[in-house]
Amino acid sequence: MLINFESRWTRIAPTASIPPREGRAVTVAGAELAIFNLGERFVTISNQCPHQGGPLCDGIVSGAVVVCPLHGWRFDLNTGLAVRASLPACVETYPTRVEDGIILVDVAAARRIEPNEAVA
Ligand code: FES
Repeated sequence: MLINFESRWTRIAPTASIPPREGRAVTVAGAELAIFNLGERFVTISNQCPHQGGPLCDGIVSGAVVVCPLHGWRFDLNTGLAVRASLPACVETYPTRVEDGIILVDVAAARRIEPNEAVA
């Protein structure tokens, strides 16, 4: 079977549309994403908290961590792994880059690190 690894970058929005330390929700190809401006770069994760579906885009950003606005689970925005959560958990991360002032995300290249992989 031939697998197509060609990336499919989707133009999302101008960088100025997301202030530093804030997130925005966007749906691309059926995937609900949360894009964050970390100041020096943008990162994208799944918008749905694995605990009870909280909107991670509305969470407070501290460093490279976002705090879920519903019950406070924290997720590393680089890996998608929960930080000090009561249960092992993770969300998908998506390659994100900026080109000519526009944020682009490769939804087809979603990456998910299962918590047991992180400690192995
Ligand atoms: S829904 Fe996110 S911590 Fe509960």
